Amino acid sequence: MVVLTNQKTLVRTDRIILQRLFIASAVVALSVFTIPLDLIESEEDLKHNPKFLRNSQPTSGSQWASKQNIVPYESKYHVVFSTGCSNFQDWQSYVFFYHVLQSGQEGHVTRIVSGCNESQKQELEGIFETEVASLAPGRFHLHHTPDYSRIKQRASYVYFNKPYGMRHWMEHVLGYPDPSEEQDDDIIMLLDPDQIIKRPFTAEFKREAEDWKTEPESLRVDHGSPFAQVYGFGLRWKTQIDLAYVFQNLSTPITSMTKSELEDYYHAMGPPFIATAKDMYSIVKVWSDVVPRVHDQFPQLLAEMYGYNLAAAHLGLRHMLAKSFMLSSVMTYRIEAWEKILDPLPTERICDKNLPQESYPHVLHFCQRYGVGKWFFNKKILPKTLLSCDGPLLQEPPYNLVDLYSSAIYPGVLNVIPLPMSRRRHESFMLCNVIRDLNLALVHYKQQHCASANYEYNLTFFENMTWVDNTTLVTT
Ligand SMILES: *[C@@H]1O[C@H](CO)[C@@H](O)[C@H](O)[C@H]1NC(C)=O
Ligand SMILES: *[C@@H]1O[C@H](CO)[C@@H](O)[C@H](O)[C@H]1NC(C)=O
Ligand SMILES: *[C@@H]1O[C@H](CO)[C@@H](O)[C@H](O)[C@H]1NC(C)=O
Ligand SMILES: *[C@@H]1O[C@H](CO)[C@@H](O)[C@H](O)[C@H]1NC(C)=O
Ligand SMILES: *[C@@H]1O[C@H](CO)[C@@H](O)[C@H](O)[C@H]1NC(C)=O
Repeated sequence: MVVLTNQKTLVRTDRIILQRLFIASAVVALSVFTIPLDLIESEEDLKHNPKFLRNSQPTSGSQWASKQNIVPYESKYHVVFSTGCSNFQDWQSYVFFYHVLQSGQEGHVTRIVSGCNESQKQELEGIFETEVASLAPGRFHLHHTPDYSRIKQRASYVYFNKPYGMRHWMEHVLGYPDPSEEQDDDIIMLLDPDQIIKRPFTAEFKREAEDWKTEPESLRVDHGSPFAQVYGFGLRWKTQIDLAYVFQNLSTPITSMTKSELEDYYHAMGPPFIATAKDMYSIVKVWSDVVPRVHDQFPQLLAEMYGYNLAAAHLGLRHMLAKSFMLSSVMTYRIEAWEKILDPLPTERICDKNLPQESYPHVLHFCQRYGVGKWFFNKKILPKTLLSCDGPLLQEPPYNLVDLYSSAIYPGVLNVIPLPMSRRRHESFMLCNVIRDLNLALVHYKQQHCASANYEYNLTFFENMTWVDNTTLVTT
């Protein structure tokens, strides 16, 4: 049994187990990663992929553009996500790309990676070519940008890389600010790296297939008609921000928007964001312009999300807001489509691995902690080298998890969390699906890249998984 546990509660033996795991995986990872790669293509090859590369200028100091795959692949969809340069994000990225394929999501997919130094850049490009680009020749891309986390003198904020990374990518790959006419009509889908696509996006929605916050005026992604998922921060992007400061005393239409206009079209939106390239570039310009000052006012997580909302509202780009693009936070009953998606499922189907695609949200966003009994998930305490040959897979919860426990306990936390039935169903749905989806990607990796591999489903967050369910233990 390999046990994952919180730093605080690491007992000595656990620490040793974990360290061995890390070292062992690192050694294997290195031997996989050093496969020499020389996939730099000739000018002739590049002509085979004119659409994606039109107007592109190589990022300075990067061979990115000349390393494009030779297989032509035409699509007007671009799925993009932004990451830093760490191996924590390598496994997340692999899982992301893997599920793009599993779900049947169309389009080019680009990992924007900010802040690699030269040697990291070369190493990552090598890994990416062998492990990711090869999954779907011509479709999967890596785009390097500088590190924007320190654009402010006094404070560092990693998520500055989202707006600035997007801007860099749109300018260096799509040719903005002077794109070709048809480029403007491309569809940009901006997601987070910890989102698993379950039900693919297109530029058209069906009214009844989604759960809408407000009845949408249009069901088609078009100029002036972008889409986004609703989040839980309401209109705090406006009420917690001094607009005069953020817009430097320039007038902004936000000040004269009615409450209902704000509620209907700009209510706390976040990724997945879907917009035409033209609209996305307009947003990205204002977004990157305002975000350092938003962070002055609100130096916390979400500053970059507030920035997106401010940019969209400033431009009057009304977003069609959906609750069913994502499931993420189990307690958000009115913000995410928990009821629409889970209420029709009988208990025995909550963990069913054969649910039809229509039964899922577009993405599962595994950014929270999930727990039922001692079954638990927290991406932050998984090994950084999860993607490895000899590391184990995650132990998968039993299919009847919902029926087994009426409370949960988290690693390193003494109090027991009582789980009323609806919450237990939500937690179980996330646990079963996220753990299974991670394992599917890890197994694929092992099959593709390991001469021999560990296929044991052993990794747990508790050493002792036996849990005497006793909700009277509640202390807070
Ligand atoms: C994983 O579990 C199996 C079966 O319980 C056990 O035989 C094996 O030793 C475990 N492996 C590790 C690495 O803990
Ligand atoms: C790049 O960054 C890594 C990790 O921080 C470091 O170990 C390495 O020395 C750096 N390389 C160069 C060339 O700066
Ligand atoms: C905006 O107006 C305030 C108050 O008049 C002033 O203190 C501030 O310097 C102005 N800021 C800019 C960027 O003009
Ligand atoms: C595991 O935990 C259960 C419940 O707390 C306890 O009864 C049992 O003795 C524990 N087993 C081991 C091997 O520690
Ligand atoms: C479980 O709850 C009962 C009361 O219902 C309590 O007496 C008992 O001590 C609890 N068990 C544990 C292991 O705390």
